[in-house]
Amino acid sequence: MPNAYISGTGMYVPDEVVTNDDLRTKYGIDTTHEWVVQRTGIAERRFAPDGTAPSDLAVPATKQALERAGLKAHDLDMILFATLSPDMHFPGSGVFLQRKLGLLDGDSPRFVPAMDIRNQCSGFLYGLATAASMVQSGGCKHVLVVGAECHSAALDLTTRGRTVSSLFGDAAGVAIVSATDEDRGVRGWWLGADGRHAEALCMRIWDMSKRPFVPLDHGKEGPGTIQPEILWPYMEGKVVFKNAVERMCQSIMQACWEKGIELGDVDLFAFHQANMRINQYVANTMGIPESKLLHNIERLGNTTAATIPTLLAEAEETGKLKRGMKVMMVAFGAGFTWGAALVDW
Ligand code: UT7
Repeated sequence: MPNAYISGTGMYVPDEVVTNDDLRTKYGIDTTHEWVVQRTGIAERRFAPDGTAPSDLAVPATKQALERAGLKAHDLDMILFATLSPDMHFPGSGVFLQRKLGLLDGDSPRFVPAMDIRNQCSGFLYGLATAASMVQSGGCKHVLVVGAECHSAALDLTTRGRTVSSLFGDAAGVAIVSATDEDRGVRGWWLGADGRHAEALCMRIWDMSKRPFVPLDHGKEGPGTIQPEILWPYMEGKVVFKNAVERMCQSIMQACWEKGIELGDVDLFAFHQANMRINQYVANTMGIPESKLLHNIERLGNTTAATIPTLLAEAEETGKLKRGMKVMMVAFGAGFTWGAALVDW
């Protein structure tokens, strides 16, 4: 059975920087830089231009990862695309990325499978676990795992929505999972879900219990109306915060226990970037030193499926993440769903 290792990482963020002050001055949201930084650690985030889809952000991120892995797009055997803000409701963003990467061009098109993953903040880890399993089974040699979001397209950027809209930003991060005979790669993954909290963090658009989605005023001209609350993400912040801390600590302990390692054996931790305070709380509880924590939430906000792969891509770029390191990734989010993965780089 081959090992599955991460042969390349890449990321892309749109150019427009939106600071906390911009939320106030450009969008008229009643907020302050101090409130957002103090509660979340976020100073700024990126917003993509209108018309941009997550598959667009994923193209340059994938090209960077392919270059770092020494591969061409045609070498990919499968695309796993994790997002909660897809190009459209269906089909999934994976097929758009396949097309935009040029896999279908030329004399030998690559009709590789493309699958979307709807696990929000833990989507990348669900994708990594699936990719590793595909590679270890011998079914694929190189699997592209994408986490990409265009949150800015569906945020309530008014004072009414400030608790949620001040958190999120747009980005794409990718990892290529490849087969190797070397003694390295994904050592284990631990995934979980608790559907009792499915509505604690959700976006109700296309909610089947709310049909008709657009109530038409029969007999009159006009398109009818949609209740705004089904269009924007809804979050019970304190419930999410409490469960995130518990599940992340539990996942870390489970990974260490099952692999028979000490926390001190782990060189770097890539935690999902939902809130700097959540991650500090987890790190303090577990006794993880600040120097081992990767973070980019202060610059990018919460980019959901893209948080962990962008952390990895940045850490490779700066040299912080090196061959031979033991890396633990941990995520928690809507569903609730969560996970951890342990990788020998
Ligand atoms: O990746 C997805 C997973 N998401 C998370 O993990 C997020 C977890 N939750 C959290 O991080 C926190 O719950 C938040 C940072 C989102 C909110 O912090 P909180 O301490 O739970 O605040 P709150 O919602 O209880 O609101 C406290 C006050 C409210 O005002 P009143 O009712 O006390 O007058 C809010 O209206 O803060 C107000 N508020 C704001 N004020 C200024 C909420 N958002 C803002 C804002 N600027 N952006």
